[in-house]
Amino acid sequence: MTQAPQESLANLSIEENSATTTAEVSEQRVTPWEVEGAKVDGKVLAIDYDKLTEQFGTRKIDDELLARFERVTGHKPHCYLRRGIFFSHRDLGKILDRYEQGKPFYVYTGRGPSRGHMHIGHMMPFVFCKWLQDVFDVPLVIQLTDDEKFLFKNDLTLEQTYEYARNTVREIAAVGFRPEKTFIFSDLDYMNSAFYRNVLKVSRCITTSMAKATFGFKDSDSIGKLHFVSVEASPSFSNSFPQIFGGRKDIPCLIPCGIDQDPYFRLTRDVAQKLKYPKPSLIHAVFLPALQGPGSKMSSSIDSSAIFMDDSAAKIKNKINRHAFSGGGATLQEHREKGGNPDVDVPYQYLRFFLEDDDELLAIHKGYKRGEITTGEIKAICIRELQKFVGEFQERERAITPEQVADFMDPNYPRHFEILVEKKK
Ligand code: TYM
Ligand code: TRP
Repeated sequence: MTQAPQESLANLSIEENSATTTAEVSEQRVTPWEVEGAKVDGKVLAIDYDKLTEQFGTRKIDDELLARFERVTGHKPHCYLRRGIFFSHRDLGKILDRYEQGKPFYVYTGRGPSRGHMHIGHMMPFVFCKWLQDVFDVPLVIQLTDDEKFLFKNDLTLEQTYEYARNTVREIAAVGFRPEKTFIFSDLDYMNSAFYRNVLKVSRCITTSMAKATFGFKDSDSIGKLHFVSVEASPSFSNSFPQIFGGRKDIPCLIPCGIDQDPYFRLTRDVAQKLKYPKPSLIHAVFLPALQGPGSKMSSSIDSSAIFMDDSAAKIKNKINRHAFSGGGATLQEHREKGGNPDVDVPYQYLRFFLEDDDELLAIHKGYKRGEITTGEIKAICIRELQKFVGEFQERERAITPEQVADFMDPNYPRHFEILVEKKK
């Protein structure tokens, strides 16, 4: 396959932010619970990721860093990196330094089980983690925050969030992880002494005003929400997992996550310094937009905003055809004349995430922009790719046994770091 020019692929991101000087303007809002683009006269614009990196104080992943990644690991960067989907970072270079020096690190990510099934946006960090784990050959820990969802969603019981967490393990397992290298834990199960010790240490370092300033909590929010910050922070420290790292506290981690999760880890990095732990490194992804358009993120709580991993082929087709926001011309004639706008077109945006072939993606981008590919046609391509991605996933998920789920969640499953390092030799 001929390699599509890197430049053009990186540039195929959403760039619809030309806010004019019109009257009613409101800022974009991105928190772990809420994602909304800026509004101009009631119209929601696409998320401005450049602005976010500036506001959050993260670094953009540039060509130079990608070139170093390739040099150090010997792997061509994943298409999520080449396409600017994982677009921002904190201290990724430090992880590459360690890899170069043969020093250990691990990968940490998580998911809040607010529903029994993930949507395709949730899959993205996991697909990426799998690739990172294969490239670096390192342990991965995955936190399922059943406690968080209980605290933040008043209509859910602990029994429900715990059940969702267990089902999430099946879904994560279907991405292709192996229990020897991957520990998936429910906070409710794993609040053991080592992890809880870190939770306490972290919570003593975070004042109420810091939590309020970082997350915008109000006095009417429960104290559990404020405290939860320490729970999400603590898996960043290797001594939370004595069964894996033998009590060592000096092994740093890399955290792949959506950029909405960054506030947690900004605080975590401050706290790390106080506790004399290594600061976690981060690598951030853009959001997969909701079906309704690029100023939003796909969300579990709105069924028609998302494609879920348990949706049938027919349902996927129906959702895309009925709800997917189109960047095409109003009429076929207008579309043929003026072309479509892939930057805001949801089917095109999904293809950026799920169509692996760079050349094909570039051809679709060009064809759609010129009006050669119609809205109906691009929707059909999107439906085909999503049906394939979700269908293949469902087949793998059906094959996951309860024993496999138990192994992933067993803290004492043999995945001791020394064993792993020994095996590497
Ligand atoms: P949660 O369950 O809301 O989301 C899990 C991960 O998926 C990302 N994500 C998305 N990515 C792209 N497009 C979307 N539409 C989309 N929606 C969600 C999130 O950014 C996140 O990376 N509090 C966390 C759970 C958690 C966690 C972590 C996440 C605990 N520890 C460490 C990342 C890293 C939560 O509720 O995530
Ligand atoms: N090489 C081991 C294998 O192939 C895995 C491994 C090696 C490993 N080094 C590691 C895992 C360091 C975690 C950390 O199975």
